[in-house]
Amino acid sequence: VSGGQTARFESPKEVVTRLAEAAYFADERIGTTVYLADRLGKPILVEGPAGTGKTELAKAVAALTGARLVRLQCYEGLDEAKALYEWDYRKQLLALQAERPQGEPASGTGAPASRRSWAEIEADIFSESFLLERPLLAAIRSQDPVVLLIDEVDRVEVETEALLLEVLAEYQVSIPELGTITARNVPFVVLTSNDTRELSEALKRRCLYLHLDYPSIERERAIVLAKVPKITDHLADEVVRIVASLRAMDLEKRPSVSETLDWARALVLLEIDHLDAAAATATLNLLLKHQADLELAAKSLSSPSQ
Ligand SMILES: Nc1ncnc2c1ncn2[C@@H]1O[C@H](COP(=O)(O)OP(=O)(O)O)[C@@H](O)[C@H]1O
Ligand SMILES: [Mg+2]
Repeated sequence: VSGGQTARFESPKEVVTRLAEAAYFADERIGTTVYLADRLGKPILVEGPAGTGKTELAKAVAALTGARLVRLQCYEGLDEAKALYEWDYRKQLLALQAERPQGEPASGTGAPASRRSWAEIEADIFSESFLLERPLLAAIRSQDPVVLLIDEVDRVEVETEALLLEVLAEYQVSIPELGTITARNVPFVVLTSNDTRELSEALKRRCLYLHLDYPSIERERAIVLAKVPKITDHLADEVVRIVASLRAMDLEKRPSVSETLDWARALVLLEIDHLDAAAATATLNLLLKHQADLELAAKSLSSPSQ
């Protein structure tokens, strides 16, 4: 792994400020983790409930550092061929067919058409132009700076997790037919997990761990103000306070930041600028997606103690 990479940030504070310029609102803990990940050349493992800004963090770091975002979306059944590279089997077959002499002249006057040896053919069809590059290889081979996002890593099987770990340990890939490819720059790596299963200790050990929970009222207000056009300070404040009070309740599914944003956008469209209990109750279905939660929330919003 090549050292001597120029640092992207001067201080944790600078991370927070520049993230905010890219419309990502971080707190000091997030800023410090990003700063250290950059300085130590370590991946960040961001874990937490859905819709709390895990994927967005990687996108924002890429945007503000001018790096290319390379995303590996994980899913059950993701394997080496889809994560790292595979040979373009169909193209190889076509090349082999083209190689076969067809309609050879009946009476050869000169020497027979020169046929290539298998070794030559093999070297040809296992070369760069038959290689299908997948995100991990793309990130490692990239000439320009890259942010590698390995999204929702908790969805892959344990064997694929081991493959990821191997790549993250060495930042190199060896392709038997082509040799070993080593990253020129250590990419900035963000892994996200929705915490649906426990990740291996080995993977965790390799990473800086960041737990992202629902944001504070202040931070969520900043997010809403930045992402919802035409919303007033007053409405943004009401929205995030109500959302925070709902999250404190015993719900099947607590509303995420995405849902806060959906709700706020809907309220702006409906030209609601003050959230009384009736207006809130009428639009709660943008925030809560379980009937039991809707009933519970409606009851709590209409009770005078609210
Ligand atoms: N700290 C934040 N600053 C700005 N936007 C945020 C923040 N957290 C969440 N969001 C917004 O919330 C939505 C969901 O975030 P996302 O990163 O997709 O969630 P997940 O944690 O599921 O990956 C996105 O639209 C994102 O813009
Ligand atoms: Mg995500």
